[in-house]
Amino acid sequence: MKPYISVAIDGPAGAGKSTIARRVASELGYLYVDTGAIYRTVGYHMSLMGIGPKDTDGIRRCLDDVNIEIRYGEDGLQHMMLNGSDVTDQIRTPEMSAMASGVAAQSCVRDYLLEMQRALAKTNNVVMDGRDIGTVVLPDAPVKIYLTASEGVRADRRFKELTAKGENVRYEDIYTDIVKRDQQDMNRPIAPLRCAKDAVVVDSSYLSIDQVVAEIKAIIRKKAEA
Ligand code: DC
Repeated sequence: MKPYISVAIDGPAGAGKSTIARRVASELGYLYVDTGAIYRTVGYHMSLMGIGPKDTDGIRRCLDDVNIEIRYGEDGLQHMMLNGSDVTDQIRTPEMSAMASGVAAQSCVRDYLLEMQRALAKTNNVVMDGRDIGTVVLPDAPVKIYLTASEGVRADRRFKELTAKGENVRYEDIYTDIVKRDQQDMNRPIAPLRCAKDAVVVDSSYLSIDQVVAEIKAIIRKKAEA
């Protein structure tokens, strides 16, 4: 039987991973898995419980009560279900970005989510985006991309995305959040954000979405032909 193909896309916050990965997945007919949304959902649960991102014992205790399900809606989007409720919108605030990055540094959280992510890749062709997909979750993925962009460009994109949604945010705050989150994600002891040795680096700073999608599809085609 033909094995399922996994495309791993890692990179820092705001590099355009989800937009690009969603497009590539839809054009190839693969399942798109946004793993950041899974960490955000855990972070959201902890914040509802009043548990801070550094409270290892509290987080470990509360993980037993976390039932996460991913549903793919008719809109084609990945919906995050937390204990039966759709929390897709609630997990997208700057507070939940920071909370997700915090709980993601806890080994109990990473262990808890590892199998869930691997199971999706075992039963589907996937484009999976995150921070440790090519290095830890799917180290044997035949296609690995490290998608990055300069800090300024990433902050600018995030600022435009949030203001377009009507959120009242300051560019300086977004920039500081991005730099802080990168530092936290790159310097944690477990599964830090790293470019896998066999990943292809794509810098999206001066490329359009269409150009990045085309570049990644070309990389996938080349790997498939190799
Ligand atoms: O991709 P995102 O911004 O939605 O991710 C939110 C946070 O979750 C990110 O700052 C770090 C964490 N994360 C992670 O540690 N590992 C992943 N595979 C995906 C996200």
